[in-house]
Parts: sequence; C-alpha cells; structure tokens
Amino acid sequence: MIENNSKLTTSTGAPVGDNQNSMTAGTHGPTLIQDVHLLEKLAHFNRERVPERVVHAKGAGAHGHFTVTNPDIAKYTKADLFSEEGKETPMFIRFSTVAGELGSADTVRDPRGFAVKFYTDEGNYDIVGNNTPIFFIRDAIKFPDFIHTQKRVPQTNLKDPNMIWDFWSLSPESLHQITILHSDRGIPATLRHMHGYGSHTFKWVNKDGESFWVKYHFRTDQGVKNMDPETASKIAGEHPDYHTEDLFNAIEEGDFPSWTLKVQIMPEEEAAQYAYDPFDVTKVWSHEDYPLIEVGKMVLDRNPENYFAEVEQSTFSPGNFVPGVEASPDKMLQGRLFAYADAHRYRVGTNHNQLPINSPKAEVRNHQRDGQMAYHNGGKAVNYEPNSYDGIKESREDNFKPFKVSGEADSVPYDQADHFSQPRKLIMEVFSEDERGRLYKNFADHLRGVRDEQIIERQLKLFHQVTPELAEGVANHLDMSVPTV
Ligand code: HEM
Repeated sequence: MIENNSKLTTSTGAPVGDNQNSMTAGTHGPTLIQDVHLLEKLAHFNRERVPERVVHAKGAGAHGHFTVTNPDIAKYTKADLFSEEGKETPMFIRFSTVAGELGSADTVRDPRGFAVKFYTDEGNYDIVGNNTPIFFIRDAIKFPDFIHTQKRVPQTNLKDPNMIWDFWSLSPESLHQITILHSDRGIPATLRHMHGYGSHTFKWVNKDGESFWVKYHFRTDQGVKNMDPETASKIAGEHPDYHTEDLFNAIEEGDFPSWTLKVQIMPEEEAAQYAYDPFDVTKVWSHEDYPLIEVGKMVLDRNPENYFAEVEQSTFSPGNFVPGVEASPDKMLQGRLFAYADAHRYRVGTNHNQLPINSPKAEVRNHQRDGQMAYHNGGKAVNYEPNSYDGIKESREDNFKPFKVSGEADSVPYDQADHFSQPRKLIMEVFSEDERGRLYKNFADHLRGVRDEQIIERQLKLFHQVTPELAEGVANHLDMSVPTV
C-alpha cells in the first residue's frame, strides 16, 4: 500500500534521481564513479552486519513492563524498582539459544537465554540468566574452553559430540546441568512456556544497610510445556524460526505472555553454614530451606519495530546493577562482570549505551566523552570532575556495601566436590519413571555420536556416581555395560 508520494533520498537527504539504473558512459559503457548514490548504496550494504554474539547469537526480543505485587519485598532491598506495591518499570527481554549461529534453528536441545533489562528510575538493571537455575561450570576461567566444545571443530567446521562429551566427562561439575539439558526441559515448546532464572546468587542491600543473598526465579504463567525431540527435529528442518515466530505472533494477537518473579532469600550470615556453597552456580538452593517469595509480574506486550535496532543491538550485562543490588563472590559471575561490557564495546561500539534500546530512562550525567558514534556528547558542558561548574557529584550513599575478605590470594578451587547428590535428587525424586526413561534415551542418543569409547566409559562412571540406575539406563540403550568404578 503506497501511503505517500515522498521523494526517495540519499542518506544525506538529497533527492535521488534514479534508483533503478546506474549511471554509465553511454548505453553499453562502464559504470561511472560519479554515481555517488550507487557507491554509497553498495558500500552501506557491505557494512550491514555487526559481529554476531559469540554465544547466544540466535534470539528473539520483546518489550513489556514489570509490576511489583509484594509490598514487603522492599524490606530486603532498597532497589527503587522493587520499592512499593504497584510500581511499574518498563523492560525489554531477549530470549536466545546458546551454541547456534545467528541463523540456526530454534528447536534444538540447548539452554535458552533469558536476558531482562529493567529501565528503572535509577538506571538500567539487567538480569542476564537462562531457563535453567544452574550452569555447566562454576569458574569463568573454563568458559571459553567449554564454549569451544559447543561450537565447531577447527578443521571440519562441524559440531562434534566427541569434544562435547570429552569436556563434560572431564568436568564432573557439569552433571547437574547436563541432566536438565537432556531431560524433557531441554527443548521448550515455546519461549512462553519456560521459566527463567538469574542462576547466580546476587546480593540485596536494604535501606538499613542489611544484606541478603538472593536468587531470581521467573515462573511462567503459561505453564511449562516442552517439545519431544522427534517433533523438535522435524520443526528445526521445516520451520527453523518457530520459537521466534510464536513469540511475535502471540504478542501481535494480544495474547501477552507473563512471568511471576519470585526470589529465594538467604540471610547473609547463613551462607557459611549452608550445605552447599551458595555461590556455586552448579548448585540450587533447596526450596524447603529457602522458599520462593513473590516479587511481582512481568508482562510482554509489545513487539520490536525493528529487529536489528532493538534485538541485535541490545546489550545486556550482569554488571548493570542499581543501588540495592550487588555482585556475590560467585566465580562465574565475577568473570561475567568483565565479559559482557567488553563484548558490547567490540560488537556494537564504545557508545552502545547511547542507542535507544540500551539507553536508560534515567538521565545520564557523567564526564565520559567522544568515541565512535558519540551522539549525546554533553554539548558545551565541562568534561572533568571535580569541577566548579556543573554540580554533578558522586553520591556515597549509593556506593556498594563494604564487605570483608580474608585468606591468601591464590588460584583456589571451590572446596565442595559433591557434584552428584543434586542431580541424583532431581532424577530419582523429581522426575517420574517416564521422564527418567526419556532422560536415559536422550543421553544415549547424544553419546552415540562419540567416537572415542574411553570418553563414553568415563561418562558412564560419572553417571554411576550420580546413581547406578542412570548409568545402567544409558548403557542399556548403548548396548554397553557400565565399567567398574
Ligand atoms: C551472552 C560470556 C556465562 C547467559 C554472552 C556473551 C558473552 C558471554 C561474551 C555475548 C554478549 C554480547 O555480545 O552481547 C559469558 C561468560 C560466562 C557466561 C564469559 C562465564 C564466565 C553465562 C551464564 C549465563 C549466561 C552462567 C546464564 C546464567 C547469557 C545470555 C546471553 C549471554 C542470556 C545473551 C544476552 C543477550 O540476549 O544479549 N555471554 N557468559 N552466560 N550469556 Fe553469557
């Protein structure tokens, strides 16, 4: 439908005389360099791509809002977005798969990214989590190696179960997450039918300066629904953007998905006594020990108008905190505090926070200037601090809460090595018999691609330490016997 008769222009706003025929020397002559519209059009096209995210490249996003429903939550944190019942904060979410490239299929067995940006009155607060409460590894120093195994072999550019299981079988801390991954929950039916988690432990600080350890749970109000692997494979071939389209269509049709945000809260002093290291991201906290407390509701009610501007250029960082929320000593989280902003400076640019999708709703006042694509550049204001003119000062009351550290600086491992009891509980007490059967089959189907038998044997020994039923269940599907442990 033609809506108006405006003139086509160049990117500098001048009318374009011909957008169909390039300027040539005569009818059959060569093209002239004088056709600057042609030159600019071709050159701009060459620069349309920015590097895709090194992980979580394939994603879908939506706008929405978050509303506090629990008037008591402010007793745990002074964060303004949680300060009073009914308080509404605009937000943006990006869902993603982890290992695949930008054009890869949606319905694969993979964790799903669940990255939320709250545009609060005190600056942007990001929770950059997954649809699983835990992770494969627990120290940032292992992350690049782990991700290499999820991607492609240097020589063949093929994915390879051999390297995936080589790494997992040598990293027993992965047992809990690979159990979730190969369970029914490993392939969600849609992005609307899965929970989201902050996964790490964070610190909340209240107005009185008391601090608490906190874990975030976004519980889907649509109910959890998963997809069986056969359907998922078929859809991956026939309709690779299935989840992206489902989310877009649901919102377009007014069927707005929502999640209830709940938290587990641990008083600061209980961390030292807890059965598991509460900062180890491969472990959950028992809901009996720390029950879920409702915080509020998140509703997605608006689709992006432009995928590149809003979804591809969105930049989420676990380091985007607001007063009242701080980091914990989780060694994965600590590494992530560096990795994301660094990725954003490389992938989108130094001034990525000036783009509308990343720009806070709160006013930005500082003395950072210039750099590529600087747009809001402070005008004629002074660019240093302290100064005698602009009155912009740090606010000590918003500084992080001081905390004690002790011990020697060293490369120290986590002191707990029980990687078995939590997946055991999940398999034997939470999963039904049918779910257990499907878990064994999914593990075996994946392990079948491993060339090196010693890797399978090593993994079966680990499975045996989780529970003999698991090792035998998987081995039976593989026509193998469980090696003696
Ligand atoms: C994306 C690094 C662990 C969830 C990314 C990106 C990097 C990265 C570099 C791309 C960022 C961008 O280009 O915008 C790391 C490192 C980790 C780690 C170094 C461990 C030390 C985790 C964990 C979770 C997670 C434990 C979940 C609990 C995500 C999500 C995204 C992402 C959801 C996509 C964000 C978006 O939608 O833009 N990660 N990651 N990552 N990561 Fe991690």
